[in-house]
Amino acid sequence: MARHLITSAIPYINGIKHLGNLVGSQLPADLYARYLRTRGHEVLFLCATDEHGTPAEIAAKKAGKPVAEYCAEMHEVQAKLAEGFRLSFDHFGRSSSPQNHALTQHFAARLDDEGLIREVSETQMYSPTDGRFLPDRYIEGTCPNCGFDSARGDQCDNCTKQLDPADLINPHSTISGATDLEMRETKHLYLRQSAMKDRLEEWIDTREGWPVLTTSIAKKWLGDGDGLQDRGITRDLDWGVPVMKDGAPWPGMEGKVFYVWFDAPIEYIACGAEWVEAGKGDDWERWWRTDKGADDVTYTQFMGKDNVPFHTLSFPATILGSNEPWKLVDYIKSFNYLNYDGGQFSTSRGRGVFMDQALEILPADYWRWWLLSRAPETSDSEFTWEAFQTDVNKDLADVLGNFVSRITKFCRSKFGEAVPEGGAPGDREAALVEEITRRTAAYAGHMDRIEIRRAAAELRAIWAAGNEYLQAAAPWTTFKTDPESAAAQVRLGLNLIALYARLSAPFIPDAAAAMLAAMNAPDTDWPDDVPAALAALPAGHAFTVPDNLFTKITDDQRAEWAERFAGVRD
Ligand code: 2FM
Ligand code: ZN
Repeated sequence: MARHLITSAIPYINGIKHLGNLVGSQLPADLYARYLRTRGHEVLFLCATDEHGTPAEIAAKKAGKPVAEYCAEMHEVQAKLAEGFRLSFDHFGRSSSPQNHALTQHFAARLDDEGLIREVSETQMYSPTDGRFLPDRYIEGTCPNCGFDSARGDQCDNCTKQLDPADLINPHSTISGATDLEMRETKHLYLRQSAMKDRLEEWIDTREGWPVLTTSIAKKWLGDGDGLQDRGITRDLDWGVPVMKDGAPWPGMEGKVFYVWFDAPIEYIACGAEWVEAGKGDDWERWWRTDKGADDVTYTQFMGKDNVPFHTLSFPATILGSNEPWKLVDYIKSFNYLNYDGGQFSTSRGRGVFMDQALEILPADYWRWWLLSRAPETSDSEFTWEAFQTDVNKDLADVLGNFVSRITKFCRSKFGEAVPEGGAPGDREAALVEEITRRTAAYAGHMDRIEIRRAAAELRAIWAAGNEYLQAAAPWTTFKTDPESAAAQVRLGLNLIALYARLSAPFIPDAAAAMLAAMNAPDTDWPDDVPAALAALPAGHAFTVPDNLFTKITDDQRAEWAERFAGVRD
């Protein structure tokens, strides 16, 4: 038994996430956590909401609520949806927690003591009407290069030129529309990442077997040196972790907060402390401090590709720079993007399916299965309603659901609701047991390596093998001439249901629980010995016929949903 720490990138607080966000971090992290638990490992699976920064402030303003209240409410909303999708976090924390405030301030102080913080004076656009400094992307104006009238302060979307807000002609605030913007001087703390290049390089070089997507992004930034420029870690905002040191205001930094990307990954650690505070665990340092037992821990992070630079460079720079024995990540599993029906998911335009809407129309397992089996691992992938309908109907309804239903109903009608006795397994049964044993080992191998699509394909093949066996053995025909052999076939079929439930639980936990309950087989352990597991339910063992596990998606439903989710969420 090993110890596994797992974190998913923490979703921004402002708004409900779409299915592309879900499959890029939380869902695959949950799959892995569930799998490792069934293998008997000790798992700590943490996630949280990412609550600071300008977008949170603006979303709260739009909702007409104080930002703290807005975040508290949205945290609850996201927590409920996570439950709805059966995300099995050991704790779902908040980056605005007192624990994260304290730890973020602690890291900044340590970095300062190590000589890794310097103060920088810069001029920045200030909006007196908004009463704040404006981040670049909240300033728009006319592009000096192409004349496009909605160029952003950081870039013109029309001619792609990188801009500085001061370059814009007639700049205005996108928050209030104010045009009386002025350049003001302000001071910020910078983390001297450039001084840590060697240490980071050495650390990354010692990471073995990382996915190509992860290392190529890390190396690109390291190679360019771009990712390792000194980085501003403070902002002129009200909402965030106040810039303090040793419990007192940081001289010259009064009224400022830490940058959201500085405090967000620190929340991974703080979330452990919140987990203890919530009474769910008793020692978080055992997971997070290598001087307190975390040496034995394997730490895996899950995230979308846009998050990789922050996790391969910035956050490790914080940790390494602190010179304290914090646990560093062992493996980063990163994902490409999931697109939606010929375009991109868009939160601002409401294009695509969002977590709340998904659960309104279908149970979590349907989504979990489809999203995971098509996870954008090696390239971007695409959600289409046709593919969703086809896969759900075939894999879940025709293959798995149908197998469970046929075997249990046939048994009930001919032998009653208990595993039948008599007969003995023959060559066909032996061949099936051999195939399932071999495939289960392959499946476990893929899950161990977090090869999600391959794991799903193997699981699908395991389900299909049962169906093919049933088709060939045809106990309903055998029964007419040889009821003893039919009994042996049905016995194997019923045992297969219990095995399927155990193997499938990480992907489709609700259906798996229903299958186990129907088979009256509460044991959820991993079947280490597959042949033994396939004989575990003895003759006479009572079961019940479960309700239909999956309902097929009709063409009408597909057409209705495609239209409903085409854009503009109200
Ligand atoms: O991209 C995002 O959704 C960010 N909120 C992820 C933060 S992950 C971590 F660093 F906290
Ligand atoms: Zn332009």
